[in-house]
Amino acid sequence: MTDKGFDLTRYLREHRQRVNVCLEKILAVFDPQRELVQAMRHSLMAGGKRLRPVLAMASARACGGDIDQVMPAACALEMIHTYSLIHDDLPAMDDDDLRRGKPTCHKQFSEPTAILAGDALLTHAFHILSCPKDLFDPVPESDILLEQIALIASAAGINGMVEGQILDMQSERQMIHFIDNKEIGNKDVLMDHLQYMHGLKTGKMIVASVAAGALSAGAKRHQKKDLSVYAARLGLAFQVMDDILNVEGDPVKMGKAAGSDLQRDKLTFPAVLGLNQSRIFAGHLIDQALEAIAPFDDLAGPLRAIARYVISRDR
Ligand code: IPE
Ligand code: IPE
Ligand code: MG
Ligand code: MG
Repeated sequence: MTDKGFDLTRYLREHRQRVNVCLEKILAVFDPQRELVQAMRHSLMAGGKRLRPVLAMASARACGGDIDQVMPAACALEMIHTYSLIHDDLPAMDDDDLRRGKPTCHKQFSEPTAILAGDALLTHAFHILSCPKDLFDPVPESDILLEQIALIASAAGINGMVEGQILDMQSERQMIHFIDNKEIGNKDVLMDHLQYMHGLKTGKMIVASVAAGALSAGAKRHQKKDLSVYAARLGLAFQVMDDILNVEGDPVKMGKAAGSDLQRDKLTFPAVLGLNQSRIFAGHLIDQALEAIAPFDDLAGPLRAIARYVISRDR
């Protein structure tokens, strides 16, 4: 895949590989025979797209920084994302059997083990960020690490991904109710709610990924501002595409089930806008994301290519 002369496929492959090497190092410290470690490995190393760590790396480079400096945060972001997927798949939540082309963690192990593997990934992510010296060289200055910890904790937590997940759960079996109710079934109201919910559920972690990269590179205030707009639009477009793929994606390519949102009558973009309008909406969001980083030079090439990829992806 080339994007104006830029080989994104190669870029993604090389950068994913870099994350995977670091994640392997993180796991290698623990006895591989332990069930907890096996469950963490099962989900973490199952072959995710690594979008969040790659965004952190691309953002660091766009600001003129060194990729090595962002690796602790990049790994922490991927560990937290993986925990969120393990819990998202549980019977109490989306009740899914397949993730990243493999049985979900609770199917492969058990529900208690999956819950605890998620807990362990979340906790250990912050351990890595608070004392990265044992595994990473170079490591960022302590004040940058502290800012990254605050940033990522905030994005993953009460006013971020966890709240988004609660809103998503509450939206189950609501479409019929929304459509029937003229007042709250109003498209604009639904769109506002959806954007708020998806912004929290998916957007915040993506914004934090880009911000973590900018922080590690000592980005200027105006650069951080532009990148934050870029990431918010990109994060929303990413979730719109996730909703679209849940309707028409190929489960084999995606490594996870399709059709589940409809089955659970979830509030999604295709449910409110239809597939075509959802695609157009995602395209507008990506235009806005690209516009936000227009002042950046060629070092932002990967961020631009990733933005275009987000709405053309099939997995
Ligand atoms: C899936 O995330 C869940 C969403 C937040 C949309 P990804 O599509 O990034 O999943 P992996 O990491 O590639 O498995
Ligand atoms: C998962 O969202 C989002 C988080 C785990 C925060 P979805 O439930 O929409 O994503 P998939 O389709 O299971 O990957
Ligand atoms: Mg879900
Ligand atoms: Mg799900």
